[in-house]
Amino acid sequence: MKEKTTENVKAAFIGEAKAYFRLLAFAEKAREEDVPQIALLFRAIAEAERVHATRHLNLMKDIVVKDTDANLEKSFRNEISVSQNVYPDFIKVAQDEGEEAVAMTFSHARDAESFHAKLYERAMYSVIKDEVKAYHVCQVCGYVTDKKIPDTCPVCGAPKEKFKTIDA
Ligand SMILES: [Fe+2]
Ligand SMILES: [Fe+2]
Repeated sequence: MKEKTTENVKAAFIGEAKAYFRLLAFAEKAREEDVPQIALLFRAIAEAERVHATRHLNLMKDIVVKDTDANLEKSFRNEISVSQNVYPDFIKVAQDEGEEAVAMTFSHARDAESFHAKLYERAMYSVIKDEVKAYHVCQVCGYVTDKKIPDTCPVCGAPKEKFKTIDA
């Protein structure tokens, strides 16, 4: 794919992906405001934007999606980078600006990302002894474990009801 077109496909992907989440938030607001028809509309268009985002991503498949070894390696590096560089910088700025709630959300994300890195690392070096049957994901902070669901999330303290199971 030519350079400018590639840039545009990337930009379109990012735009559609953002729209997906924004529209779901709009749908949630409409639901709170008790206008279910509008909530339904936002959810439907959100789904359509997700289709667009996926389609754009597919055009970049050769650029973005490699073989699984490379994808694991890239995902591991991304987690290391966000947990060791990006979020720590963001946390510092949030604290300097007195944005405590933001600093807390960022630090939960930082901690959860470093757990993600460990899971990838383990998968990369194939040191998984027992087959993993399921992972459990904290819906508050994004902490992930393949052990049994903890009574409280070790990253954010959420109760076990807040975990969602992703199984094979
Ligand atoms: Fe992550
Ligand atoms: Fe959590």
